[in-house]
Amino acid sequence: MLKIGIIGAGMMGATHASAYANMNDAVIVGVADERTEAAKLAAAYSARSYASIAELIQAEDPDIIDICLPTDLHKAHVLYAAACRKHVFCEKPIALSVEDAMEMAEACRAAGVTFMVGHALRFSPDYMLAKRTVEDGKLGKISTVRMIREGAPPGWSAWFKDKSRSGGVIVDLGIHELDFLRSAFGEPQRVYAKVAEEGLPGEHAFVSVRMKSGVIAHLTASWALPDGFRSFLELAGTEGVLKLDSDDHKPIAVTRRSSGTGTDQPSSSWESPLSVSPYEAELRHFVDCIRTGAEPLITGEDAAKSLALALAAVRSAQSGEVITFE
Ligand SMILES: NC(=O)c1ccc[n+]([C@@H]2O[C@H](COP(=O)([O-])OP(=O)(O)OC[C@H]3O[C@@H](n4cnc5c(N)ncnc54)[C@H](O)[C@@H]3O)[C@@H](O)[C@H]2O)c1
Repeated sequence: MLKIGIIGAGMMGATHASAYANMNDAVIVGVADERTEAAKLAAAYSARSYASIAELIQAEDPDIIDICLPTDLHKAHVLYAAACRKHVFCEKPIALSVEDAMEMAEACRAAGVTFMVGHALRFSPDYMLAKRTVEDGKLGKISTVRMIREGAPPGWSAWFKDKSRSGGVIVDLGIHELDFLRSAFGEPQRVYAKVAEEGLPGEHAFVSVRMKSGVIAHLTASWALPDGFRSFLELAGTEGVLKLDSDDHKPIAVTRRSSGTGTDQPSSSWESPLSVSPYEAELRHFVDCIRTGAEPLITGEDAAKSLALALAAVRSAQSGEVITFE
C-alpha cells in the first residue's frame, strides 16, 4: 500500500484525494494546509491533518507527496519532497520559470524519485481519442488546430488574480492546450500572442503557434467570461475535421440561480457519469509508474517545455514581437 501525503487542501487537493480514494493500492495518510479547514478534508479520508509539508513527512513518512498548492509554492515544496526522497506529483503549471522547472526536474532525478506533473488533458478520454484519430491518419495531414479554454475568473481563490503567483491566464489556463498541442504535434517553431485585460473581469488571450511540423494552431484562453466554462478543439486535416466541444456533451447539466444576496453568482456545471476522470487516470498512471519504475508520461523536463511555450506567448504579448524557438 503506497502512503500518500497531499499538500494543499483546496480545489485540486480535494480532487486528488477523491481520486486516490478509488485506488485499492494507495492510502491517504495526511493532508497539509496552512488553513485549518484542511482538517475536514483529512477527516473525510480518515487521514491526519498538518500545517506544513515538513510536519506531514516527519509524522507519516509517506511514499508520495502530491503538491496541490498555488503555483508560486510548487518549486520549494517539490525540492523539499525530493530532498526527503519522496516520489512527487505536482499540479500544473510546474513552476513560473523554466529555470525553476528544470531545477525541480533535476533535483528529483538526482534523488532517484519519480516526478510527474499534472497535465490532465493528456489523460482526458476525448482529447486522447482526438490524438489517436490523428495518429491513425484518419484526418490525413493536419494543417490547422483551433483550441479554446474559457470561463469566468477562478472564483474560489484570490491568488489566481496575482500574476506573480499564477502566471496569468496563458500560463495557468492556456497551458492545458499548449501542452496538448506539444503532445500531439511536437515542438513549436514560433509564437505570437495578444492579451486583452482592460475593462474585463479577467485576462483574454489569443495565442498563435506555428509548429516545426508546419501545423498552425490558434488558442483562445480566457478568464473574461461572466459565467460558465467551455473548452473546444478543432483539428482540420487533408482528409477531414474533428471537433470537440464541451458544450456539446452535457448529459447532466445543472445551472443554479444566484441567491439574490449579491454574495454569489449564477453557476453551471456538467458531468458525464460515463466519462473517466482525467485526474484519476493521471494519478493511476503515476502510482503505476512508481510500482513498475517506468518513466511517467509527463516528466519534469516535458512540463518545462510546455511552460517555456506558455512563457514565450506571455513575452510575445508584452513585447508585440513574434518569439522564435531555437
Ligand atoms: N489540473 C487542473 O485542471 C487544475 C485546475 C485548477 C488548478 N490547478 C492547479 O493546481 C494548483 C492548486 O490550485 P487550486 O485551485 O487547488 O488552489 P486552491 O487555492 O483551491 O488551493 C490551494 C491550497 O493551498 C493552501 N496553501 C497555500 N499556501 C500554503 C502553504 N504555504 N502551506 C500549506 N498550504 C498552503 C491554501 O490554503 C489552499 O487550501 C495550482 O497550481 C493550479 O494552477 C490545476
